[in-house]
Amino acid sequence: MRGLVVATKVWHDSLGYDDVIESAENSRSRLGIDTIDVLYVHWPCFSYDPEETLPAFDHLRDEGVIQHVGLSNFTPEHLDEAREILDAPIVVNQVEMHPLLQQAELRERCVERDVRLVAYSPLIHGEAFDVPELSAIAEKRGASQAQVCLAWLREKGDAAIPKASDENHLADDLDGVTLVLSPEDIARIDAVEEEKRISKTDWTPW
Ligand SMILES: NC(=O)c1ccc[n+]([C@@H]2O[C@H](COP(=O)([O-])OP(=O)(O)OC[C@H]3O[C@@H](n4cnc5c(N)ncnc54)[C@H](OP(=O)(O)O)[C@@H]3O)[C@@H](O)[C@H]2O)c1
Repeated sequence: MRGLVVATKVWHDSLGYDDVIESAENSRSRLGIDTIDVLYVHWPCFSYDPEETLPAFDHLRDEGVIQHVGLSNFTPEHLDEAREILDAPIVVNQVEMHPLLQQAELRERCVERDVRLVAYSPLIHGEAFDVPELSAIAEKRGASQAQVCLAWLREKGDAAIPKASDENHLADDLDGVTLVLSPEDIARIDAVEEEKRISKTDWTPW
């Protein structure tokens, strides 16, 4: 994959076969590009029907409209089901992941299935700054809590997509890419017992 990856998602009301094709064409036209690098199924719910939705993604890939198929918010069971149906490789599963939602089972399944896990809401919407273990490590290392949190995600082998609208936050996140945590620091974050899931509504699959 290139250094800059153009990715977009199909929303959960447009996952019928024809709707997926139309949605991808609309995205391609709005973005003004020939090929979308990664097109995601945003959520496996509502109009998601694996037997209809996933063949549409295969078709788009065969036609060169998209380069790769991505999934988002897929549980291990959803992932297994999708693998049975799709012809294309599943390059990525984008899910909520951070020190308060460590996704051990899903990470294991992604490794088994050669699927990269992308961590969304990696800073817990800013609540990472209230996790005492992150604060203690940050103080010891002379880093910010955001940098420690993102370094832990890198140690887990996952890509993370923090959002920063403030220029100083963006610089802080980028400056932290060289931070490497010690095995003790990683173990300390691994052992955090508090759990929190941000993306939880009455229609999410958990
Ligand atoms: N696939 C899905 O279903 C799904 C669901 C939710 C989110 N996402 C994606 O995940 C990405 C990010 O997640 P998110 O926005 O939910 O939460 P997040 O990245 O965990 O947190 C964003 C918050 O952290 C702050 N921040 C960032 N860097 C900071 C720093 N160095 N120091 C202090 N504060 C910092 C930002 O502040 P400022 O903005 O003020 O800089 C913002 O308030 C987005 O691209 C979003 O689209 C995907």
